[in-house]
Amino acid sequence: MRLRSNALGAVLGAGAAALSLSLLISAGCGGRAAHPVVMPPPADPQSLRTPESFAGIGDKKERSRALFLEASRVMLHPRCVNCHPVGDSPLQGAHSQVHDPPVVRGPEDQGVPGLECTSCHQDRNAQLARVPGAPKWHLAPKVMALEGRTPRSLCEQLKDPARNGGKSLAELIEHSAHDELVGWGWKPGADRVPAPGTQAEFGALVAAWVKDGAECPREESRP
Ligand code: HEC
Ligand code: HEC
Repeated sequence: MRLRSNALGAVLGAGAAALSLSLLISAGCGGRAAHPVVMPPPADPQSLRTPESFAGIGDKKERSRALFLEASRVMLHPRCVNCHPVGDSPLQGAHSQVHDPPVVRGPEDQGVPGLECTSCHQDRNAQLARVPGAPKWHLAPKVMALEGRTPRSLCEQLKDPARNGGKSLAELIEHSAHDELVGWGWKPGADRVPAPGTQAEFGALVAAWVKDGAECPREESRP
């Protein structure tokens, strides 16, 4: 969002508003006359569209990109971002504020001696104390940060074994569909808003994205 409005500001500043603006808009819509695209209707914020609902996109690469954009609605959700920060502290809440009480990731992403993540976080949510929980609660390594990623940069990172924990695409599907820390995103406890859809639906989207070629969306594309 910020990127796009910066770009818009630059365009207006250059005094070529009308022409460039229309270019910007057509780029943003991804309108390609050669491949008429039937997009599925928008999902409500708590649902995911199924892989089948993207069948109207005839071009396989375009369909793969659209599937990734839909899956990115999960990966860029605060439930996931909060445990995949760029910095040394976990984040919390709907607006990804810095974790309170203050804690740091430590050398193994599990906190520091005396203040490990699991000193407070159990293997399940502690409802009364509001402390979220799942087995082996700890931070994702810095190279796997989701915070601040655009869908395209996220996509490239996920495909890069140097930044995804050495995972193959098959392992990435498996992790998405079955990992317990990922799964916590749909049962976050207290008053936290869960990620959209279900973990199974998310896994199915990632699998369909891979099947259609694991294409990355354009830099300006947003779900
Ligand atoms: C001293 C206790 C304590 C320690 C240690 C601790 N946490 Fe937390 N954490 C909490 C509490 C309490 C909350 C709930 C805050 C709230 O929502 O009111 C929380 C919330 C979170 C959330 C927010 C979930 C969300 O989406 O809102 C994440 C992520 C998190 N902790 C990760 C970690 C990680 C990773 C570590 C280790 C590096 C860690 N915590 C260490 C007490 C702790
Ligand atoms: C409690 C913290 C925590 C939460 C919450 C969490 N993750 Fe992770 N995530 C991790 C850790 C730790 C790893 C590294 C595990 C590994 O390498 O096997 C990881 C790895 C991953 C990976 C594979 C590596 C990569 O980046 O390519 C993906 C994909 C992923 N998480 C997605 C998600 C999604 C989607 C959500 C929300 C629905 C989520 N995570 C929520 C801690 C978390």
